[in-house]
Amino acid sequence: MSFSHNPVMINRVIEGLNIISNGTYVDCTFGRGGHSRNILEKIGEKGKLIAIDKDKAAEDYAKEYFSKYKRFYFEKSNFSDIEYILEKYNDSKKVNGILLDLGVSSPQLDEADRGFSFMKEGPIDMRMDTTNKMTAMLWLQEAEIDEISRVLKKYGEEKYSYRIAKSIKKSIEDKSLKTTLDLSNIINNCYPKNKLYKKNPSTKSFQAIRIFINKELQELEKILKDCLELIEKEGRLVVISFHSLEDRIVKNFINKHSDGKNIISKLPITNISSNLRLKKVKIPLKASDDEINQNVRARSARIRVAEKL
Ligand SMILES: C[S@@+](CC[C@H](N)C(=O)[O-])C[C@H]1O[C@@H](n2cnc3c(N)ncnc32)[C@H](O)[C@@H]1O
Repeated sequence: MSFSHNPVMINRVIEGLNIISNGTYVDCTFGRGGHSRNILEKIGEKGKLIAIDKDKAAEDYAKEYFSKYKRFYFEKSNFSDIEYILEKYNDSKKVNGILLDLGVSSPQLDEADRGFSFMKEGPIDMRMDTTNKMTAMLWLQEAEIDEISRVLKKYGEEKYSYRIAKSIKKSIEDKSLKTTLDLSNIINNCYPKNKLYKKNPSTKSFQAIRIFINKELQELEKILKDCLELIEKEGRLVVISFHSLEDRIVKNFINKHSDGKNIISKLPITNISSNLRLKKVKIPLKASDDEINQNVRARSARIRVAEKL
């Protein structure tokens, strides 16, 4: 098993978490442990890192490469189950920091068999948790045109959603839709010809189907709410998102529970109104040009940090 996930914005994540040596941290999106590895280097003997991922491949990776760490615990689960997971691994329910590095990992995208990529031929699967029954193909077979169109519009902001949905259903009927490349061709053929597109036209629809199949936005909304209860006073929430739907949810959540003003990382907090739960931590939103040059995934990444009051 190869290690191929470059942890995105690692320095900002570590700064954002403001790690204390004996603190307890949760990496809700372990992937291949790029962020976890760095957090483990920062916490001391009495610190603890609990990692979560719903992908069996991430669990296998954690077993193989992280079992040597004494202060590390892994749970294969949805991160929205964080409350139960903390009951299992932590004496107190509260933790000092929670990290979410949302979306798919590089290995998930790179392995054609997982069906996430429109550039590699594979089954139309797209499940992060392969023990779930509902693959993307099964859903496309079962759903009506209107439902598919609604998902493409809602989660992909796809303006040709109805045309694409109709074409997908037609190709299911005539049995010409079998692989991710078939799906990508069907989508691309619904776009006007003779035009140059900045991104492959399949990007939005693949994103939409993936978000829907993995209930990504519902999971995110649930865990953000849980974080309000689970993070200790002065503990940190750090979220990296990769598209505007996610980032909007995170931004609105932090704004709703803070007064919208920034604090400078590491300075003590004063004069806080009593019904506020969070304080925004000032940190550059986007990756540096250097990082983007080295890691193309960082290009669309946005990081937001909040401190619990
Ligand atoms: C962008 S990758 C994280 C990469 C990781 N930070 C690293 O450095 O290797 C996102 C990971 O989160 C997992 N994931 C996404 N949503 C999840 C959820 N709701 N519950 C648990 N794991 C989730 C995916 O399976 C994927 O492995």
